[in-house]
Amino acid sequence: MERCAAFLIDGGGDNSGFEPLRGHWLEQFPGHERLYVELGCGKGTFTAKTAAAMPETLYVAVEKVPDAMILAMEKIERRGIENVRFIDIDAKLLTALFAEGEVDRLYINFCDPWPKSRDAKLRLTAPGFLRLYADVLKQGGEIHFKTDNTPLFDWSVRQFMDEGWALSELTHDLHENGPVGVMTDYEARFYEQGLKINRLVATRTGESRSLSRDGAVPRLRNASLTDARGYEESQEANRRNGT
Ligand SMILES: C[S@@+](CC[C@H](N)C(=O)[O-])C[C@H]1O[C@@H](n2cnc3c(N)ncnc32)[C@H](O)[C@@H]1O
Repeated sequence: MERCAAFLIDGGGDNSGFEPLRGHWLEQFPGHERLYVELGCGKGTFTAKTAAAMPETLYVAVEKVPDAMILAMEKIERRGIENVRFIDIDAKLLTALFAEGEVDRLYINFCDPWPKSRDAKLRLTAPGFLRLYADVLKQGGEIHFKTDNTPLFDWSVRQFMDEGWALSELTHDLHENGPVGVMTDYEARFYEQGLKINRLVATRTGESRSLSRDGAVPRLRNASLTDARGYEESQEANRRNGT
């Protein structure tokens, strides 16, 4: 942890530690041209490979489970990657970290599906989160979203469209013709199991609803995912396979 401390940004419990950075990330970390943020980086294979390929980008990885984040930080430290910073926080507090329009891109990879309707608001593609993202992303800023969970993906597509985002690069089988792009830890396992990977890019437009302009979303109803395969099942399969 000590070796990795240089990569960790601590909010100090009351998030006041983020105040000098909020709205000033690129000034505080000079030499970077843009700001990319990954939500739920897990063990950080995607983080390390993606950030290493774009040293001119400041890359902030947000993760609410510190045990996973420590493994990700160790990867960054071992590989000598300098353009990544980690924050141990829930993504719902994103506006404490970033000012309006400060972020160029968000990555959401294999977020927890939360199949029950009553938990739908916790999905990182729920309308409440999309409004938060619209506040911190620039106009024209992008969300790059990948998941193996097709019911979650299809539900998310509807939320993006209803919330005024423009969709592109939409596929239900990203690796149909062989591996494409940087795979995350979860993705590599699912790919080996022969599962199809869904991906899309959502672009923030002038029509995208935001929390600051449009307020909170009404309560979600009938939002259960018909195929309730959550990650518990996948994790159990991985344990059986010894992976
Ligand atoms: C299923 S794992 C995927 C990890 C990684 N993105 C990958 O594809 O290998 C989801 C990760 O998101 C994190 N996470 C879930 N909800 C979050 C939230 N609201 N804020 C921050 N991290 C979150 C979890 O702790 C977990 O590490």
